[in-house]
Amino acid sequence: MIKNLIKLKKATMKDLSISWIKWLNDKEVNKFSKKKNKIHTYQSQKKYLKETLADNSKLLFMLIYQKKKVGTLLISKISKTNKHCEISYLLGEKKLWNKGLGTKFINLIIRYILKKMKFNKIYAGVRSDNSSSQKILKNNNFKLEAKLKSHFFVNKKYLDYYIFSFRK
Ligand SMILES: CC(C)(COP(=O)(O)OP(=O)(O)OC[C@H]1O[C@@H](n2cnc3c(N)ncnc32)[C@H](O)[C@@H]1OP(=O)(O)O)[C@@H](O)C(=O)NCCC(=O)NCCS
Repeated sequence: MIKNLIKLKKATMKDLSISWIKWLNDKEVNKFSKKKNKIHTYQSQKKYLKETLADNSKLLFMLIYQKKKVGTLLISKISKTNKHCEISYLLGEKKLWNKGLGTKFINLIIRYILKKMKFNKIYAGVRSDNSSSQKILKNNNFKLEAKLKSHFFVNKKYLDYYIFSFRK
């Protein structure tokens, strides 16, 4: 069962790997990323990882499936005052898409944020054409809270940006 095969692990500098950089430079995996036009290298990723691990407003996790690293999940904009945070995620191994893993990883992070961090609210920003990402949020009871109209200009078209949120 998927449930017993997946887990989240806090990232460390040891998690820097060629596969991670491959995911970041993969046009399909990166299609919805704000950094999609950037070329990622071992050095740029090392810098990112170092800065992220030192940033108190962020917590970075590796997605683990069958004991292998298959993606990343970032908790950012951590506000202890407001007890809320943002999440963003990437399942880098495309062959694993549409098998229910994304939904399960979101479920795990909700439990972590509610139980360990004792926060009340989680939000995620998703482009209007990212159906898969919207679906895994909806599968986990995230609700559409706001629409930023014509927020991105992609392939000669304006697209909306949706903010989904989960409230305890
Ligand atoms: C978003 C992502 C994490 C989803 O992971 P996943 O493991 O494929 O997700 P799941 O299998 O749990 O669910 C995907 C759902 O989307 C649906 N789906 C997939 N493609 C779709 C499409 N083009 N239109 C509508 N629904 C679609 C699937 O049918 C499935 O729905 P279900 O739960 O009813 O079966 C993964 O695709 C990914 O990492 N993408 C690249 C990075 C990214 O987009 N990150 C999010 C940025 S906001």
